[in-house]
Amino acid sequence: MDLGCGTGAGTFALLARFPEAEVTAVDSSADHLRRLREKAEASGAGGRVRTVRADLDAAWPGLGAPGLVWASASMHHVADPARTLRKVHELLMPGGLFAVVELAGFPRFLPEGGPEERPGLEERIHAASDRHHAALMPHRGADWDPKLTAAGFCLGGAPRLMPV
Ligand SMILES: C[S@@+](CC[C@H](N)C(=O)[O-])C[C@H]1O[C@@H](n2cnc3c(N)ncnc32)[C@H](O)[C@@H]1O
Repeated sequence: MDLGCGTGAGTFALLARFPEAEVTAVDSSADHLRRLREKAEASGAGGRVRTVRADLDAAWPGLGAPGLVWASASMHHVADPARTLRKVHELLMPGGLFAVVELAGFPRFLPEGGPEERPGLEERIHAASDRHHAALMPHRGADWDPKLTAAGFCLGGAPRLMPV
């Protein structure tokens, strides 16, 4: 299952990595899901993908009992991560795996302090973006380990942290 799948970067990676598997792709955006379905049909994988439109902050539809849930850059979007993580824990089949990818911050594109003609431009943009997102997405950049253990998960796997 790809939770908060967007247009399916994770979905298609999962399909390629697990050629026998079916993937349920879940997102609140009808546009993202439509694009994902178009790509799945075009690549011949349409029969292995189920798209489900759902708001993870509301009541969840039946999503089955996946063996693997992948959530990339989506958990910081939900209003109540503790509730969402508990729901994922309930959903997974016993012994299942929950793979979470989250951001410590936005990637940098310019050298530190640059560019020459506008020194510190990217730092100012990041600061403005952080201020904007602080209210909208207070869980972006959070430490997810304690949230995961509180929801009942055992932590494992590597890497735990990757530089952005
Ligand atoms: C930053 S995108 C990540 C997309 C994809 N996982 C990726 O790695 O490319 C976050 C996704 O979460 C979805 N999302 C945000 N809030 C959601 C919610 N409450 N319920 C379901 N999906 C949500 C958005 O529509 C968006 O597709």
